[in-house]
Amino acid sequence: LPAAQEAPSAWLAGPVLPAPRSHASHKGSYGDVAVVGGEGLAARGLGMTGAALLAASAALHAGAGRVLVALLDDGRMALDGVQPELMFRRFDALALEELMVVCGCGGGEAVRTVLPTVLAQAARLVLDADALNALAADAALRSLVVNRSVRGLPTVLTPHPLEAARLLGLSAAEVQADRLRAAQQLAQQLHCIVILKGSGTVIAAPGQAPAINPTGNARLATAGTGDVLAGMVGAGLAGGRATGADALRAATEAVYLHGLAADRWPAEGTLTAGALARHIGNY
Ligand code: APR
Ligand code: MG
Repeated sequence: LPAAQEAPSAWLAGPVLPAPRSHASHKGSYGDVAVVGGEGLAARGLGMTGAALLAASAALHAGAGRVLVALLDDGRMALDGVQPELMFRRFDALALEELMVVCGCGGGEAVRTVLPTVLAQAARLVLDADALNALAADAALRSLVVNRSVRGLPTVLTPHPLEAARLLGLSAAEVQADRLRAAQQLAQQLHCIVILKGSGTVIAAPGQAPAINPTGNARLATAGTGDVLAGMVGAGLAGGRATGADALRAATEAVYLHGLAADRWPAEGTLTAGALARHIGNY
């Protein structure tokens, strides 16, 4: 384990990995994560379930008690055998008010339809990719994000620079020119935790100095590693970690661990998103 002094900031004063599991614990002790996404281009005959499945696999391997998957396309429920631990559900069968929800890893336009419900009801929430693009296009959805903070419900956004730029009304170059400022601005505007991805991932929260994560490298520059991070953040926030500083700490730890896995990846092995998700419990 990395020593505490290697940690990205004061938020990570303790050990990076969660405490060992208590002998009498059960899957309910580690929280449920629901991944809402997938599909997206199915109407055009293109499968896009990979992103949701990567996030779900990462949440599972990062230690969530149960992982539910709602692909926004009923036809794809037949995927049940892909990873037998995952529980496929219809979106409208999810008890969102009890769940840590990861939304937007795939899902395309369908995400926009479910987002008002997700924003209003999810107990804890991670928004990635297609959900972030839906927010960028709709001020009413953005005010629902702000509303969540008033209700004490944690929300984490995981934009890459272009997604952040769309949300801020800037160009990606402008975001990259001052990443700390962009992440902080977004966190302040939407009253949520922001993980601005890319080399030197920035973690920001309202009223806090933003931090730069010290782990990670260019081996992560491969499709799907962002979805893996979204699932890991979901797992981190699921296990009893609710609001405020705890949510920030869980998000920070997930980013750190995601990068650490890449830094410790065997030199001879290719880092793929699927393998990263499967091995995340080893780091
Ligand atoms: N150094 C450190 N970390 C990096 C680096 C780097 N040079 N490059 C990428 N990463 C990390 C990011 O910090 C982030 O955690 O890898 C992850 C990449 O996440 P995203 O940018 O969200 O990429 P992802 O969604 O996995 O894949 C994008 O999906 O949307 C499609 O067309 C898109 O093919 C593309 C793919
Ligand atoms: Mg992404």
